[in-house]
Amino acid sequence: MAIIGENIQEAIRILAQNDLIGMPTETVYGLAGNAFSATAVSKIFEVKNRPTFDPLIVHTSDFSRINSFVSHIPDKAYELAKNFMPGPLTLLLPKKETIPDLVTSGLDSVAVRIPNHPLAISLLKQLDFPLAAPSANPFGYISPTTALHVEKQLGTKIKYILNGGECVVGIESSIVGFEGDEVIVYRKGGLAIESIESVVGKVRVMEHSNSNPQAPGMLKSHYAPRTPFSLENQHFLNNSHLEKVGFLAFSQINPSFLPQNQLLLSPEKSLNEAAKNLFSYMRELDERGFDIIFTELLPEVGLGRAINDRIRRATVPTH
Ligand code: TXA
Ligand code: MG
Repeated sequence: MAIIGENIQEAIRILAQNDLIGMPTETVYGLAGNAFSATAVSKIFEVKNRPTFDPLIVHTSDFSRINSFVSHIPDKAYELAKNFMPGPLTLLLPKKETIPDLVTSGLDSVAVRIPNHPLAISLLKQLDFPLAAPSANPFGYISPTTALHVEKQLGTKIKYILNGGECVVGIESSIVGFEGDEVIVYRKGGLAIESIESVVGKVRVMEHSNSNPQAPGMLKSHYAPRTPFSLENQHFLNNSHLEKVGFLAFSQINPSFLPQNQLLLSPEKSLNEAAKNLFSYMRELDERGFDIIFTELLPEVGLGRAINDRIRRATVPTH
């Protein structure tokens, strides 16, 4: 069983041996290892059961430090970094050889992020290497937003989880890349597209796809609970056993389902609060033993766009 604690020195000791830890960030918990060590990085893929064609994000504490592993920074990347780093933003930038190919799945660009979490920043500042860290969930399952979520799923495979409390953003970072003068959003995330556009102007938003070799990161089946999770409740209501049906609602109880089987993402209709609760409520409903969980889409603005992206990826057609 992994130890859950707040001891940064213990985390450093483990990382220095090329072993892995659970690390808090403001978005979701990461499964972290030395990004300059092929040994540590291969352990990440193994522990997560993640295919090696799906590359990892590299985390650092200060923008000045990225020069040790990034070869060029476009002007618009600087602008975004100035405004939103540390924060829920990941930039795709050309990599130097210090980053093993395994981290980027052989791509020429590396994903870079500065997490806005005091424990993570304090840890990263004390290390002389950056940390590669995917979300700390088994491949395909919901991302963890507490240390306990990490412990439940990866506790037998890692020694230590740095406990930074509940993640305040709750969904993964927005991933942004650059092609010529164009800014491309590859993953909608914790930084709203409207915020990105307020700094760099209009961006291109890539929608997910099952087979797009240009955009690893965009595998469709992701973030899914084990229980069937669906948006299509009209197909089900006639022959349902309502006590075995859960519902994940935005702000109001749905009268078609049992109230005690429902969780409200944000009674106040706050998209930020909904993002913060999304993954933990999906987990909570998943653990209740329902036959099926229905849900609904949120307003397609601000973090609602990233939330809807996660819901669409996690849901399956039921007919
Ligand atoms: O908020 C986050 O970003 C969290 C925390 C822990 O920082 N991390 C996270 O990592 O969500 P992960 O591995 O679950 O998702 C990273 C995504 C993957 O879909 C991967 O394909 C994409 O980023 N990615 C990483 N490096 C890339 C690269 N060089 N080019 C394109 N996509 C990349
Ligand atoms: Mg992930």
